[in-house]
Amino acid sequence: MLTESSAAVVTATLPAVQAHGEAITHRFYRRMFDAHPELLDLFNRGNQATGAQQAALAGAVVAYAGHLTGGSKVPWGPILDRIAHKHASLGITATQYTIVGRHLLAAVGEVLGDAVTPAVAAAWDEVYWLLACELIAREARLYTLAGLAEGESVWRDWRVADKVRETPDVVSFAVVPVDGGAVPTFTPGQYTSVAVDLDGGRGQQIRQYSLSGRPGADHWRITVKRVRGTDGVPDGMVSTFLHQQVTVGDTLRLSPPFGEVSAVAGSGPLLLVSAGIGLTPAMAALEHLAATEPQRPVTLVHADRAGTAHAFRGELPRLHAALPNLRTTLWYEEVSDADLAGPTAEVAGGLVDPELIPVSPDAHVHLCGPLPFMNVVRGGLLRRGVPVERIAYEVFGPGMLRDERA
Ligand SMILES: Cc1cc2nc3c(=O)[nH]c(=O)nc-3n(C[C@H](O)[C@H](O)[C@H](O)COP(=O)(O)OP(=O)(O)OC[C@H]3O[C@@H](n4cnc5c(N)ncnc54)[C@H](O)[C@@H]3O)c2cc1C
Ligand code: HEM
Repeated sequence: MLTESSAAVVTATLPAVQAHGEAITHRFYRRMFDAHPELLDLFNRGNQATGAQQAALAGAVVAYAGHLTGGSKVPWGPILDRIAHKHASLGITATQYTIVGRHLLAAVGEVLGDAVTPAVAAAWDEVYWLLACELIAREARLYTLAGLAEGESVWRDWRVADKVRETPDVVSFAVVPVDGGAVPTFTPGQYTSVAVDLDGGRGQQIRQYSLSGRPGADHWRITVKRVRGTDGVPDGMVSTFLHQQVTVGDTLRLSPPFGEVSAVAGSGPLLLVSAGIGLTPAMAALEHLAATEPQRPVTLVHADRAGTAHAFRGELPRLHAALPNLRTTLWYEEVSDADLAGPTAEVAGGLVDPELIPVSPDAHVHLCGPLPFMNVVRGGLLRRGVPVERIAYEVFGPGMLRDERA
């Protein structure tokens, strides 16, 4: 809770901070990276270039200010969980909050000038630290649950034991801990952060990859789609590096499993809806259920450009044999005769029509794919009466879906 005097000041200054949000974030990152160039290794340079992450951090502070002063009905628990899991997977420390807070508040002062009186500065400082404390507490708990001692690094060396080409643009890596220790289990839907040292002195970059294999196996599997640049936009840094430079025997630095979204929620019918590389959490879910709950009714709806782009398609017969109540519907933008010959799946042409998704009223749903795809599918399922709290989703980038309650 904000103090009453701060709440009044924040309410009065929120429109100005919102209006100058972009300039404030721009200044903030410039100041912070000038003072702490080592933090460049932590942040995603692709997101910096496109502005995606810049909007995320400052946007969250402004939205939280709105929440504290009563203007928004968005439930904050899931948002805080998402950020905390992402932060924990990056090994963010409480000390770093002091650095971010100092530079963020200084940037507000630089942009808004004389409007930032000591009372205004104190009120926004309070907002920042209320949010920071929520996140620091959640992150401390996550580190403990991951078995890390106080101050212990999240990074552990893993050796690439196998590299498998799934499609022309998708490869899987099987990895085992270099120290020969236990392979942590995980909930289907969770991801690991992968830190790589880019060639040519380009420094470290970190990305998240969903664990796509069976929890409890003697190795982890991640599956990476190569992001190709078009129209002058560069190729994806880390996915290209993993595809081109990383081979069997190489070492990668990986975080423990994090991620608040389960792909196997509930115990009744389960609906997994994915598009493209968004299939990875669903694969972990299917492998997990085949090993632990083979009778559970599961529907997999997967959309892809074509059968040739569909990773793990060859695994479907084995999974159908292991999961007698699995039903699969595939939607390919381009359907070939060979696609229609497969015995275990129904294949439709074009984009997924949410009205045609087989869903029972008591199903738990997990979505993963591009944001526009998930918005369309979730909107359709909500219209068909699936309650909002039973539709979980994973975004492979910063951000969340719009909330109908906003
Ligand atoms: C929870 C989670 C789970 C994920 N799971 C998976 C998974 O299982 N498999 C998977 O393949 N991916 C997954 N991802 C996505 C993955 O983390 C990376 O985002 C993805 O591999 C792209 O990273 P990159 O370094 O190759 O691309 P980046 O270098 O980060 O580039 C990202 C985008 O920005 C564009 N860009 C970069 N620089 C510029 C510039 N200067 N101007 C304009 N545009 C630019 C690039 O062209 C590209 O489109 C997941 C992400 C999250 C958050
Ligand atoms: C109150 C303070 C903070 C807020 C509100 C905040 C908010 C956010 C948000 C909303 C995201 C995007 C999450 C997602 O949807 O994926 C994010 C990611 C991230 N945050 Fe924070 N954050 C805070 C503090 C910090 C601190 C102290 C650091 C460390 C210096 C940090 C480093 C990062 C990094 C590296 C990412 C991933 C960025 C990327 O991939 O480019 N954040 N944060």
